[in-house]
Amino acid sequence: MIKKAFLFLTITLLMGFHKPKEHGMKDIFKDSFYIGVALNSQQVSSEATQEQVLITTHFNSLSPENGLKWSLVHPKPEEYNFQFGDAYVALGEKLGAFTVGHCLVWHQQVPNWVFEDESGNRLGKEALVSRMENHIETVMGRYKGKIHGWDVVNEAFNEDGSFRESKWFEISGMDFIKAAFKKAREVDPNAELYYNDYNVWKASKRKGILDFAEEMKAEGIRIDAIGMQGHYLLESPSIDEIEQGIIEIAEAGFKVAITELDVDILPRPKNSQGADLNINYANSAEFNPYVDGVSTEIKEKFAQRYADLFQLFEKHKDKITRVTFWGLHDGRSWLNNFPVRGRTNYPLLFDRNLEPKIDVIKRISF
Ligand code: GLA
Repeated sequence: MIKKAFLFLTITLLMGFHKPKEHGMKDIFKDSFYIGVALNSQQVSSEATQEQVLITTHFNSLSPENGLKWSLVHPKPEEYNFQFGDAYVALGEKLGAFTVGHCLVWHQQVPNWVFEDESGNRLGKEALVSRMENHIETVMGRYKGKIHGWDVVNEAFNEDGSFRESKWFEISGMDFIKAAFKKAREVDPNAELYYNDYNVWKASKRKGILDFAEEMKAEGIRIDAIGMQGHYLLESPSIDEIEQGIIEIAEAGFKVAITELDVDILPRPKNSQGADLNINYANSAEFNPYVDGVSTEIKEKFAQRYADLFQLFEKHKDKITRVTFWGLHDGRSWLNNFPVRGRTNYPLLFDRNLEPKIDVIKRISF
C-alpha cells in the first residue's frame, strides 16, 4: 500500500497524468493483477494515437470488445475476417500485454447460418459441434501463442443456475461446452481458458456454473479461470455478494478474472426489456439525467464504489489474475446505449475528453 501511495504521488506530481509511460494504473497494481481494457477497431489501429497513449500508459492486458465475436470474425460459412484480430494482436505484442480473446462460443453476435444447413434446416448435434470446432481451430489457431487467454464459452447459464436455452443448448445440450473447452485446449495448450458470465455474484447462477465446471474438471477438461464480468451498478450488487463469489470460485479450484468492469450510474427502468426500453425511454430526461454533467453526490458515490471494489480485489489478489475495464473512456462505453439507447453515461475511469478521473484513481490506489 505504501508503495502504491508513492507511485500515485509520482503520477500526480508529474501532472499530465497520462504522459509518463512508466506510471499508470498497470504500475500501481503490478504486484496484484493485470489491469486490462477492452478495445474497439478504431483503437487498435494506429490512427487513434491519443487513445493509444492512454492504453500504453495504463494497461498491461487487452481484450477485444467486439472484433473477435463470431459474427464479425466469421460472418459467412467460408468467410473469415481477421483484419481486426491481426491489428489487435499486433498491438498486444507491441505493448507486451497479456492479450485476451473474446469470445469463441456465445448465443449472441453469432449468425443464424451457424445453426442451419444449406437448405435452412436446423443442424444436427454432430454437425453443429463440428462447425464450432472448426471455428475454434481457425480463429484460435491463427493466434496461437499470441493470444494468451480465451473466453471459450460466454453466458451459457440462467440466473437460477440452469442451462440457458440457446440454440447451442437446444441442439447439443451442454455437450457443446465440454467440446469447446476440449478443442480449445488442443488448439493452444498454453493458452488460459475461461468460462465467462455476468451476475456470477448471484449464488444460484454461480452454483450452476461451478457444479458444471467441477464436473468438467472431474472428466479431465480443464478451465483455468471463471470470468466475473463485473457490469455493476452504483449500489448493487453488494461488496459482500461479490466477495462471496470470488471466495467460492477460488474454493472450487479456479482463478477469478474480473473481465468486463464498469459502473453504471444511470437509473434503470424497471419491468421492461429490450426494444420496449428504447421505445418507452429513449428520449426520457428522467432516465438520462446527466447529459450536462454529474452531480457532486453521484461523483462521490461513484468514487466510493470503485474504491470499495478495488479494495476487495486487492484483498483477494491471490485469487484474481486480471481486472479488465469494459472500454477505455466514457464516450465509448456500451452503457451509453444499454439498456436504453442514446444516453450519456460515465462508467469508466477516463472521461469523454480522455482525461483521467484523478479523484477516483487516487481513491482506488490506496
Ligand atoms: C456481454 C459480452 C460483451 C459485451 C457486453 C455488452 O457482457 O460478454 O462482449 O457484448 O455484453 O457490450
